[in-house]
Amino acid sequence: MTEAILLVGGKGTRLRPLTVHTPKPMVPAAGVPFLTHQLARARAAGVEHIVLATSYLAEVFEPYFGDGSELGLHLEYVTEVEPLGTGGAIRNVASRLHSAPEDPVLIFNGDILTGLDIRALVATHETSGADVSLHLTRVDDPRAYGLVPTDDTGRVQAFLEKPQTPEEIVTDQINAGAYVFRRSVIDTIPEGRPVSVERETFPELLASGAHLQGMVDSTYWLDLGTPQAFVRGSADLVLGRAPSPAVPGRRGDRLVLPTAEVAADAKLTGGTVVGAGARIGAGARIAGSTVLEGAVVEPGAVVTDSLIGAGAHIGARTVLSGAVVGDGARVGADNELRDGIRVWCGAELADGSVRFSSDQ
Ligand code: GTP
Repeated sequence: MTEAILLVGGKGTRLRPLTVHTPKPMVPAAGVPFLTHQLARARAAGVEHIVLATSYLAEVFEPYFGDGSELGLHLEYVTEVEPLGTGGAIRNVASRLHSAPEDPVLIFNGDILTGLDIRALVATHETSGADVSLHLTRVDDPRAYGLVPTDDTGRVQAFLEKPQTPEEIVTDQINAGAYVFRRSVIDTIPEGRPVSVERETFPELLASGAHLQGMVDSTYWLDLGTPQAFVRGSADLVLGRAPSPAVPGRRGDRLVLPTAEVAADAKLTGGTVVGAGARIGAGARIAGSTVLEGAVVEPGAVVTDSLIGAGAHIGARTVLSGAVVGDGARVGADNELRDGIRVWCGAELADGSVRFSSDQ
């Protein structure tokens, strides 16, 4: 049985302020910590043993997931004293693996929502005889990613970080953040110092003649690293566009968790999630958004593609579009926040104090 490592120790800086008190994999998506979806998908693909490589806010994972038995998994936790980067984190948990030297070990970034066929990636790895196999996906604008061109047989030819000029964009295939390593290859990563698997391990393996195999799987794929992407991913889980066995409820336009209170004439659409104990007032309209537990949205507010943190308060008639409101923040009535604006945890905005729009 294939075992897996999940990389969940990053600081999640792009997702601030949601990651100030909560590590990115524990931020709720479709009503449960995002990591739950990844664990459930790995379990559904036959994985039973998963080692979580933790660092930032490491202490919150084990109290929530315990030994993993509720998910049918055996979970272990390894915390880095200092962050070791993606490659260093993989090396740091090697002693917990049960696999023999030739066995495949799955590795997942902890912030990717995807419909990847995990069994197919392992099968590709075994039939190609590769040292490392990578899930690749195709994107329209590859400039923000690491490009991974392959030959006709899928063998990786290069790793090109964040290309800028048209000549550098030689492919639309990018590293999608899921790998299969031959166990013995993990043991060759340097121990006890930070290592980036993307910038150091993969290019060095390639230079030394190792066989790296790419598998393009173009099903649903989203990097939930930014607030906009996180909200989109959560909504897609609720709508059923992104697959997960862990969504607590039926797929549809909205997911309202038990103990949330939603006024009869409030309108929730586009995969909106309302967390436990949250309250949505009369006539509020919320589309494609996530309202975390205990948050309050007052009557007449209009919220689109936004994320409202736990216990935050949105005043009457306030408009949020593409905004993030941190945990416990208070946005007064009659404000207008748009286009990527972030309200810090616990901040207070008075009534009618902000009218922001990028086209003003
Ligand atoms: P940003 O700060 O917003 O870039 O997010 P991040 O810290 O999560 O970094 P990135 O998205 O590049 O990380 C990819 C994956 O590796 C995520 O699942 C991270 O949790 C994980 N990761 C990154 N650095 C470390 C590390 O030093 N240790 C461990 N254990 N995991 C890491």
